[in-house]
Amino acid sequence: MSTLLYITAHPHDDRASYSMAVGKAFLDAYRENHPGDPIVTLDLYKAYIPHIDTDVFSGWGKLRSGSSFDQLSEEEKKKVTRFGELTDQFVAGDKYVFVTPMWNFSFPPVMKAYIDTICTAGKTFKYTENGPVGLLTGKKALHVYACGGIYSEGPAAGSDFGSPYLKTIMSFFGIPSFETLYVEGMAQFPERAEQIKQDAIKNAQEKARTF
Ligand SMILES: Cc1cc2nc3c(=O)[nH]c(=O)nc-3n(C[C@H](O)[C@H](O)[C@H](O)COP(=O)(O)O)c2cc1C
Repeated sequence: MSTLLYITAHPHDDRASYSMAVGKAFLDAYRENHPGDPIVTLDLYKAYIPHIDTDVFSGWGKLRSGSSFDQLSEEEKKKVTRFGELTDQFVAGDKYVFVTPMWNFSFPPVMKAYIDTICTAGKTFKYTENGPVGLLTGKKALHVYACGGIYSEGPAAGSDFGSPYLKTIMSFFGIPSFETLYVEGMAQFPERAEQIKQDAIKNAQEKARTF
């Protein structure tokens, strides 16, 4: 039995978004094929995702210099606690599915804010004399990623700063098994958009069987 953490970073639902539609197809097929697996969903546009700000820095600083949690301000407590909850939720997952659109060559900013909450020394990675080491071994991740142009290959391949970055973060955590399911080219080839979506849905359903 594995826990799937399904993370979406999109303000729209599957009716208005290619990535959300393909993500939903994956999730439905995953449920069907892995009926015993717990699924945890995290909607980054609805969840509370604090940014690293002065409260977070001062809260961390106080804890590092020996203050007790009770000595933190209410804002510091709230944000530092939420960072811990989000990290623990991530650590408890065995498989991860990220669903995002491409906006300006990367994913929406809330996704970066989320990544900042889970990059936690001692939980997702640790520092050693030989550099950082990932602590989340034996897990796997999939990025369902809708882009107006084509980025999986061809001249724009080097201009995608979303999926390669997410892959780097997963690898930093010790998760080398990372795949991107691009839903791409709908803006570049509008006449083929529906076919691209249907093909991606089929591909997602296929992946869900063995993921
Ligand atoms: C704010 C914004 C920025 C975008 N930036 C890019 C981009 O850099 N490259 C690209 O190919 N498409 C870009 N697009 C098009 C989207 O990637 C495309 O519409 C995709 O289908 C979005 O995913 P969704 O259908 O899940 O919303 C952008 C769209 C929006 C709304």
